[in-house]
Amino acid sequence: MKILIIGAGGTIGKQVAVALKEHEVITVGRNTGTIKADISEDDAVERLFKQVPDIDAVICVAGDSNTDNLSAITKAQFMVGIEQKLWPQINLVLSGMKYLNDNGSFTLISGKMGDLPIRGSSGKAFVNGAINSFVKAAAQEMPRGIRLNAISPGKVLDIDSNALVAAYLICLETDINGEIVNVGYQKN
Ligand SMILES: NC(=O)c1ccc[n+]([C@@H]2O[C@H](COP(=O)([O-])OP(=O)(O)OC[C@H]3O[C@@H](n4cnc5c(N)ncnc54)[C@H](OP(=O)(O)O)[C@@H]3O)[C@@H](O)[C@H]2O)c1
Repeated sequence: MKILIIGAGGTIGKQVAVALKEHEVITVGRNTGTIKADISEDDAVERLFKQVPDIDAVICVAGDSNTDNLSAITKAQFMVGIEQKLWPQINLVLSGMKYLNDNGSFTLISGKMGDLPIRGSSGKAFVNGAINSFVKAAAQEMPRGIRLNAISPGKVLDIDSNALVAAYLICLETDINGEIVNVGYQKN
């Protein structure tokens, strides 16, 4: 498979990229990776898909969001999650579904706080919940057999690398569509 990994230089991305090395992996980041692109810029996403033809799978492991106490969190902090994690991933799907090969797949990233939020996590939780809802809805309208799923990890430093990679393999290699694959929820 030809697999585009956005955020391959990060904590999650490094583990996933190494595990997929038998595939043709193309790494993307703002400052790291084979291709430099900032997926929070709509034009950059469209350029990326034009630049890299014949993609079978897109894995996104990039995107920031903020945490703060509810009484202190600002609009600007909430907007980081929308502009850096939610919209870029939605836009990856909207743009990429025109270019991805038949029967390809998108695997987005959300996070445990979307399902099991703790105090101070609202700026993260709402983004993760929105990503999960987007995946469940949009997966029903993917063209040409393309599948759309998300990985929702707990704290990655507490997750066994094999379990993390296994979650990605489920999204890449099985026929699941519209699923949120939880990994590491049992740890705090
Ligand atoms: N780590 C955890 O415990 C955990 C748990 C649950 C969910 N998550 C979610 O998983 C995702 C990745 O987490 P992580 O800990 O692996 O993050 P990380 O270590 O900060 O890595 C993020 C990677 O994404 C790239 N990136 C960030 N913004 C980008 C953009 N706008 N365009 C292109 N590339 C971009 C960065 O490279 P450049 O700097 O070169 O752009 C970096 O390689 C985040 O959305 C996070 O919320 C993480």
